[in-house]
Amino acid sequence: MKIIEIEGGRPLKGTIRISGAKNSTVALIPAAILTDEEATICNVPEITDTDALCDILKALNVDVKRASESIVINPQQMENIEITEKFSKKLRASYYFMGALLGKYKKAVMYFPGGCSIGARPIDLHLKGFEALGAKVTSEKNKYIVEAEELKGANIYLDIASVGATINIMLAAVKAKGKTIIDNAAKEPEIVNVATFLNNMGAKITGAGTSTIKIEGVEHLHKCFHEVIPDRIEAGTYIIIGALCGTPLKIDNIIPEHIDSLLSKLEEIGLPLEVGADYVLISSQDKYKPTTVKTAVYPGFPTDLQQPLTVLLTQANGKSKVTETIWENRFMHIPYLNDLGANISIKNQTATIMGPSKLKSSSVVATDLRAGAAMVAAALLAEGKTTITNAEHILRGYEQIVEKLTSVGAKITIKEI
Ligand code: EPZ
Repeated sequence: MKIIEIEGGRPLKGTIRISGAKNSTVALIPAAILTDEEATICNVPEITDTDALCDILKALNVDVKRASESIVINPQQMENIEITEKFSKKLRASYYFMGALLGKYKKAVMYFPGGCSIGARPIDLHLKGFEALGAKVTSEKNKYIVEAEELKGANIYLDIASVGATINIMLAAVKAKGKTIIDNAAKEPEIVNVATFLNNMGAKITGAGTSTIKIEGVEHLHKCFHEVIPDRIEAGTYIIIGALCGTPLKIDNIIPEHIDSLLSKLEEIGLPLEVGADYVLISSQDKYKPTTVKTAVYPGFPTDLQQPLTVLLTQANGKSKVTETIWENRFMHIPYLNDLGANISIKNQTATIMGPSKLKSSSVVATDLRAGAAMVAAALLAEGKTTITNAEHILRGYEQIVEKLTSVGAKITIKEI
């Protein structure tokens, strides 16, 4: 187990550079197998989710070369073999291999995916999408078998604007015969990034970033070069940390429009922001106003920033309310925040935060990736030494978090026991 220790209560000053987006990268890597040529992806974050997907590529006999921030994927010698539980369980996004393998070979065999325990996380919409394209889906002993004699374009309406289902259906449909239309598609920037990658390889996808995506099937995808967009959730996490401890903190290499919902919330609670073309500069304030927040699909307030934001709201004067609408089990950080001195109660899907609270050090657990980020944010503010166990969850999505925070003055170490 990995443990992060933080000596809190220190001002943080300097610049933090944001890495490539985890939730783009985890789709781009499986998407790369859709060509038989070489795909080069740059600005790839060094996080354990990236490593886990590269391990799957290697198990499928795909050649993978990593050089600093780039990754070169060559599937010329690839074999379509079953993705075993050892690989699939490591992360949720292993499910993108289902769409990609189905799109390329018309067959995918994969054990159930893993990932953070933040809710039931069904994938029925992905599977219905595959079926609409002509695939037969069976599941036996914790594994899915998805196969088709022929994939044919179809009109698919998603009951929920699911990020994963939208991307997986795009992956399965790019080489299908004819036209696929995905209605009520998710609009997250990561979807646009994946569609751009596929188009760079020769796919014909229009409408990504809107709720109707159209895909004209093509026979062949060719080599390409592509860049991962900056991680809006990593950016948002450090901006929140800046609001807690920045004197000032500059969060650099970001696309500010991707975090509009966060930035306007922060202005609403009384945080002055300097927003540049690709950076935000923030200084912690003595007083914040309380607010209400409801998570929503993009461009609404992202569920992935709900947990870190809760930490900031412990410093607001009065009663704030945070309602989680996407994942039913995303309040696991709350008991640990209360251990650190917060005053938060939960009823149904709403957390009520009474502030301001003086946070003090404690021993806490990173129950999932963003809960872990919330623990880091809280520990940076809390006086004394806080120990965060299960820190491996944090490393799944935050590249060099210890180094980045150390460089701006935090006292943070990581060890393995
Ligand atoms: C993606 O998960 C992200 N993961 C999540 O980030 C993020 O929280 C989520 O989108 C929402 O923004 C990756 O991109 C790898 P969904 P995904 O399908 O695609 C329900 C993080 O911390 N649903 O948009 O799995 C589902 O239960 C992670 O980085 C169905 O009912 O999310 C949820 O309530 C965690 N059936 C809602 O839709 C389905 O077939 C949205 O899920 C699919 C989803």
